[in-house]
Amino acid sequence: MYEKLPTEDPELLNEKQDLYEKPTKRSNKQSLLGFILTAFLLVSGFAAYCLLSCSTSAKPKQNVIFMVTDGMGPASLSLARSFKQYRDKLDIDDILALDSLLIGSSRTRSNDSLVTDSAAGATAFSCALKSYNGAIGVDPEKNPCGTILEALKLKGWHTGLVVTTRITDATPAAFSSHADYRFQEDLIAQHQLGEYPLGRSVDLMIGGGRCHFLPRSVGGGCRSDDRNLIEEAQLNGWSYAGDRKAFDALDEGRNVQLPLLSLLAPTDIPFDIDREPEVYPSLAEQVKVALTSLSHATKNSKEGFFLLIEGSRIDHAGHQNDPAAQVREVLAYDEAMKEVMKFVDNTDTDTVVISTSDHETGGLVTARQVTELYPDYLWYPEVLLNSSHSGEYLVKKMMSRQSELDGPALESYIAKEIVEQDMGILDHTKEEIETVKKFANDANRLLGVLNNMISVRSQTGWSTLGHSAVDVNIYAFSNSERIDKQLYRREPYTGLLGNHENIEIGAFMAKLTGVDLAKVSDLIRDVEHSPKGALDVSADIHMNAVHKLH
Ligand SMILES: *[C@@H]1O[C@H](CO)[C@@H](O)[C@H](O)[C@H]1NC(C)=O
Ligand SMILES: *[C@@H]1O[C@H](CO)[C@@H](O)[C@H](O)[C@H]1NC(C)=O
Ligand SMILES: [Zn+2]
Repeated sequence: MYEKLPTEDPELLNEKQDLYEKPTKRSNKQSLLGFILTAFLLVSGFAAYCLLSCSTSAKPKQNVIFMVTDGMGPASLSLARSFKQYRDKLDIDDILALDSLLIGSSRTRSNDSLVTDSAAGATAFSCALKSYNGAIGVDPEKNPCGTILEALKLKGWHTGLVVTTRITDATPAAFSSHADYRFQEDLIAQHQLGEYPLGRSVDLMIGGGRCHFLPRSVGGGCRSDDRNLIEEAQLNGWSYAGDRKAFDALDEGRNVQLPLLSLLAPTDIPFDIDREPEVYPSLAEQVKVALTSLSHATKNSKEGFFLLIEGSRIDHAGHQNDPAAQVREVLAYDEAMKEVMKFVDNTDTDTVVISTSDHETGGLVTARQVTELYPDYLWYPEVLLNSSHSGEYLVKKMMSRQSELDGPALESYIAKEIVEQDMGILDHTKEEIETVKKFANDANRLLGVLNNMISVRSQTGWSTLGHSAVDVNIYAFSNSERIDKQLYRREPYTGLLGNHENIEIGAFMAKLTGVDLAKVSDLIRDVEHSPKGALDVSADIHMNAVHKLH
């Protein structure tokens, strides 16, 4: 069984050598000054803390809200901010909610590459260790590693996952399951529902990804066995909300029966630019349900909740080099952040919010040389605003129509309906229309051609269809001076101010909440985590090539 950890003041914990403490280089003078300052902060902090709750000797109740912008690098912020200022006719000093919370930056390399994927990126946060690209809650030797979500659940916290892609995708998976490879999504779904040594670790899941919960015989299902995990979950006490109507019946979180499974799409929830509000809720709406129900469930509990929120598809827009879709994804995340900020303002429970990215995607820059010689210093948000759909949506739309059309009819459909009406491009050339027509049957090439028409005109630059190794931002705040004091420290493994390794973010959460992730690793040693059957798992390179890393 899980051994209860001694209750300790996290303020004191900070000063101990622990699993995560790394020696730091400082001059003697600095050390002395630091020591005096630390001692002062420690004494005064402890005294203040004591005034409130020292007599109860228990650690104060806390909530941890960890937020991930998958694939969002610094340039995504510049792009989205300028776009919003242009769209809403705002002053140049109007900033995003996120901008006001910036405290540092994170270095994102994984164990086996300077360019990480989302699985290794998320495992760095969840287990506080660097693993290989593709790893879901396992270390470089494929040993399952205890996650912050599991550790907190074992301490009696409530836990939740909110995403806009498949709930079985890398980021949520790395907190709630263990798999050698991210493509083992059938197994990941089983773990998430509690089919593994710890029993159920997750109390709430809202996102897309019905696919890996349903057999192929059921619409939208893609499991390789015959199991219907949604039916099984309901028999095991989960409540289920599988469409907008059922989601609305949750009454913004006031009418939620935990554990809750809410899978709102077979795979991804559509990009915000394409989203039909009567069919799919926004990320902010999903977050509201999660925050309200989790805070309600923990109201009379000694422990708070841990919630993972992911703006999952910023990454997808990056992979597709689609700037019109990406700015809307970033703004949808910013709206979700406002919902979180409102919650933190109004709760009596000490709550910390940390928001960061696993990596950048697309090698995005808010510049592009479209002239032969020296470039103009310009970029045009107007082009992104005029476009009313993602490239992904337009490819699907064209694929469903083009077989009925040919020759001049197809050309006219492309020019009038796709390019002029949907993309808002009025100055298209004959060559461009011909290129679109040429690739009308080739989804991948077509996607590239359409998105490039927007990128070139807005003078938005991309350097890859994959990820990049650029540092990403760290945003954080809390409603507690005690937590702030820990957050706004600069030295490695003490706080999150300044530039840090991604694993320090996971270590910070473990330290703040006083959990020992290594102890959880012991409890899950026997979890099933390797692929079954004829897969040649020795060839990792091959695996990564076959199963595209995101
Ligand atoms: C990767 O993991 C191996 C095995 O744990 C370790 O020896 C190596 O130093 C790690 N490398 C990086 C860059 O994390
Ligand atoms: C954007 O749309 C408006 C209204 O249709 C149009 O006047 C303007 O020229 C368009 N801008 C660009 C860059 O295409
Ligand atoms: Zn990706």
